[in-house]
Amino acid sequence: MQTVQHILEQNQISAPLTETINTVLTASKDIALLLQKGAMGDILGCAGQENVQGETQKKLDVISNDMLKDALKACSHVAGIASEEEDLPVAANADGQFLVIYDPLDGSSNIDINVTVGTIFSILPSNGGDTAQEATYLQKGRNQLAAGYVLYGPSTLLVMTTGQGVDIFTLDPDTKEFVLTEAQSQITPTTKEFAINMSNQRFWAKPIQTYVADMLQGEEGPLGKRYNMRWVAAMVAEVHRIINRGGIFMYPWDNREPNKPGKLRLMYEGNPMSMLVEQAGGLASNGEIAILDIEPELIHQRVPVILGSKEEVNTALSYNK
Ligand code: F6P
Ligand code: MN
Repeated sequence: MQTVQHILEQNQISAPLTETINTVLTASKDIALLLQKGAMGDILGCAGQENVQGETQKKLDVISNDMLKDALKACSHVAGIASEEEDLPVAANADGQFLVIYDPLDGSSNIDINVTVGTIFSILPSNGGDTAQEATYLQKGRNQLAAGYVLYGPSTLLVMTTGQGVDIFTLDPDTKEFVLTEAQSQITPTTKEFAINMSNQRFWAKPIQTYVADMLQGEEGPLGKRYNMRWVAAMVAEVHRIINRGGIFMYPWDNREPNKPGKLRLMYEGNPMSMLVEQAGGLASNGEIAILDIEPELIHQRVPVILGSKEEVNTALSYNK
């Protein structure tokens, strides 16, 4: 039985990076425990809402953000933190070497219905910049030293890469260790399964409209195969399905709000998920270039996302030409 520690050692990951990853994992185990308590933990509902006792409740994404932030601030290797739940980056330790960027609870609309959610994380070098400044964090996804997610589903899983492939670990509830359950996971290059929020169809650009319309025509259409559709409304769960059995996931550009190119966030969702997908042999694009090659301009920047099985993503991208 190999734990995540064995794999990090085997991959010759430095002690500071190992400790930083462990800090994220320890906080995520605490988040998993809190999620398991569900309604008993008095953690459901919206921040600012009052519960039946008249007490103010905290939303679970606010609580998990604080758990990660407090743990990372206490880790001497962490120079700075950026979270989807924080307006501004948080400076941590002056001598730290890493920036940790995270979405504390992806898919949080699923919490109240007891459906899968997850923590997504990305680790970048700090490069000695001022970690109170957004500019220090604006590095391409290619710079990531590690990326992964912890998926809180029927089991708690860790899916992680340090640039040497993607490994899947399962949290053993007895030992509280993440144990390797699938090494070097690979995304199948072809698929017949797509994921997109169809209710946005009328807002998409023409190429995606045409591609999805062609998929819906099944074996009688130009793509010549019958597709199946899935939508969990948690990117972490969609990417996990794709890592396991292939597929294509799209949250494309749409014109609902012209100043927001897509819904997902580049730094918290796009980059870490794209590193995992590429490391597992898939592709991740904004429709024009690899997401990992985008030069970020804002810490909370949004990005259109098309990712998954290599051949299918290439088919989707061919509609742009
Ligand atoms: O974090 C944003 C997110 O919750 C993703 O996890 C998910 O893929 C998407 O939004 C769901 O969007 P929608 O509300 O359009 O279904
Ligand atoms: Mn999210």
